[in-house]
Amino acid sequence: MIGQGLNRVDGPLKVSGRAAYAYEHWEAGQPLYGVIVGATIGKGRITRIDTEDAESAGGVRMVMTYHNAPVQGPRDESIALEYWRAQPVLTGPEIHYYGEPVALVVAGTFEQARAAAELVDVEYAVGRGRFDFAGDDDETYIPKVVNAGLPTDTSVGDFDAGFDAAAVRVDENYTTPYEFSMPMEPHACLVEPRGEDLVVYVSCQIVDAAQSSVAGTLRMDPARIHIVSPFVGGGFGSKLGIHSETILAALAARELRQPVKVALTRQQVFQLVGLRPTSNQRVRLGAGRDGRLAALAHDVTMHTNRDLEYAEQTAATTRSLYAAPHRLTSHRLTPLDLPRGSDVRAPGEAPGLLAVESAMDELADALGMDPVELRIRNEPTVDPERDVPYSDRHLVDCLRDGARRFGWERRPATPASVREGRWLVGYGMSAAIRGHFQGPTAVRVRLEADGTAVVQSDMTDIGTGTYTILTQVAAEGLGLPPDRVRIELGRSELPSSWGSGGSWGAANSCTAVHRACAALREKLLVAARGDERSALHGRDPAGAVFAEGTVRIGDASQAMGEIVARHHPDGAEAEGTTLFMGDDPNYSAYSIHTYGAHFAEVGVDADTAEIRLRRMLGVFSVGRVLNPKTARSQLIGGMVWGAGAALEEEAVVDLRSGAFVNRDLAQYLVPVHADIPDVEVVILDGYDDKANVLGAKGIGELGICGSGAAVANAVFNATGTRVRDFPITIEKVL
Ligand code: MOS
Repeated sequence: MIGQGLNRVDGPLKVSGRAAYAYEHWEAGQPLYGVIVGATIGKGRITRIDTEDAESAGGVRMVMTYHNAPVQGPRDESIALEYWRAQPVLTGPEIHYYGEPVALVVAGTFEQARAAAELVDVEYAVGRGRFDFAGDDDETYIPKVVNAGLPTDTSVGDFDAGFDAAAVRVDENYTTPYEFSMPMEPHACLVEPRGEDLVVYVSCQIVDAAQSSVAGTLRMDPARIHIVSPFVGGGFGSKLGIHSETILAALAARELRQPVKVALTRQQVFQLVGLRPTSNQRVRLGAGRDGRLAALAHDVTMHTNRDLEYAEQTAATTRSLYAAPHRLTSHRLTPLDLPRGSDVRAPGEAPGLLAVESAMDELADALGMDPVELRIRNEPTVDPERDVPYSDRHLVDCLRDGARRFGWERRPATPASVREGRWLVGYGMSAAIRGHFQGPTAVRVRLEADGTAVVQSDMTDIGTGTYTILTQVAAEGLGLPPDRVRIELGRSELPSSWGSGGSWGAANSCTAVHRACAALREKLLVAARGDERSALHGRDPAGAVFAEGTVRIGDASQAMGEIVARHHPDGAEAEGTTLFMGDDPNYSAYSIHTYGAHFAEVGVDADTAEIRLRRMLGVFSVGRVLNPKTARSQLIGGMVWGAGAALEEEAVVDLRSGAFVNRDLAQYLVPVHADIPDVEVVILDGYDDKANVLGAKGIGELGICGSGAAVANAVFNATGTRVRDFPITIEKVL
């Protein structure tokens, strides 16, 4: 079963509308509707807030502002991961960014709540906000650590000496804009009071974190908070933690003793859930004429919200990508009065590789060397900063296989030298690397007397195919057909996990299922072997085969359901777990990553500079593939996003107010079908025995790593124009 392209087991529920998302749990009873009122200034304080008209409007049940909001638990910095911390809202009159919630209006219908929200009258004393990242950077500071607890700066050898002595040097700045996770399902929550408890139907990536965060904010016992999140319409990092809609729905439901639901509007998703920080990245590469890097530096400055620090690990994987004796990486923050930075798919690698892999292309150009060959010449033998072996690195295999499949030898050797009619044609490529994370995850597998199995965890399926791969791993682990395995996810009563994020979800939860199944098999064998009535009595369990619901040893066999019925009439259970990566010795002994190589072909209109992507190819090494169908979808999604980051995505700040001007999906451009003609994904056969017992690593974020740089490098190859200010729009190419 593992490695088969099983169709999504939850597919029929989703296409028939029976998969209930957070806003759709009608079983909770007739809900009230909450609408969030956001600040219309970016910095300052509320001087007066008049809710009288809103309160007396039709159907209104409550208007909550900082005047009457309950006291909430503080953000507790001693909790290691921020997703588990309290998220207090409406805490006072200060405004920290445009759109920050200033009131919640709750009414009997959504339309009543929305109409009354317009009647909340707020006056502000407008402060002097700083909204311009490009402004003077006197305030720029050094964070203590960057995201994922990684070191802010690293230094190996003597960069300045190595760089100065290099025969060929690249020293360029690249900028990336504000970008958003923007899942299809906006952030939404429905809270149902049940006695003293709250049932919280919420769209989230980590159920355990949601429970802790709601409990901490509402100052309640976590056991009284019941998170329900069986289906999630995408997260991309923005649902790792919970946000104001969830807290406000919970505060209102607790007070009104009635279900309350709150969903963000699309515009609010642009304001209230965090975004990828804008960055300025200086990349310096010094190499010999043979292309071997002597010195490599990646220095990143990015924005952070003034009060809520977030430092994306933009230069982190640069530390493991190429060999070079002299190296530097650094991260700096410029505090602004804008929404906080947060995790957006492949935090770090996505914008970091856009810069580094563009710079590598510039170096290849300066050397007159093929860009694929340049990467191969800088392939390290050990992790160059940590000095530990790689667990399973196949970057060169990806590069070579991709170049062959793509027809890389047809790449125009000289930029702007190939024209087909109106179109200048160019090829580009990029390497891909992505870190591998692991977090504590528990799964319970239960075998019933009828021979069916149930897998239980608070793990989420954020659209990636978790239900499907868990089915496959359990079916294989117990020797059952997949239709006799049922998966229960997304409830806080179930064994707790690190959920879905950071590309750790599949590897964590499948490893835990694999272990639980091994423990269950052992349990059945012990029972059967010691049972005189069993055909397996006294047989050597070493040769046991579990298949089609039966345990077979040699020529003897017994149905699994029968063993369960006889010895565990209430069902046989076992739990499987994974360790926090810091407690797993392989994490310190090895450098564990996934890899890939991206290739792109573009046509650029010689007169208008319109850029049309013609085809993309990604070749990846991810360890063992659990399901090639869901894996391919994940990788294509990432590659498409990378193309969008290269050519389209960008939020523009109104420097007077700190508002994002283009805060909707009509004006914030992302690729549509017509932008993406032909994407091919190849996944190399693999097995990383240092990652886990399944040999599988994460996939969700690898596709976006480097794909944008391949497109950018193709634009250079087509036109001879290098754009370092992303996205590459027409006016920058002309
Ligand atoms: Mo991911 S950006 O950790 O969901």
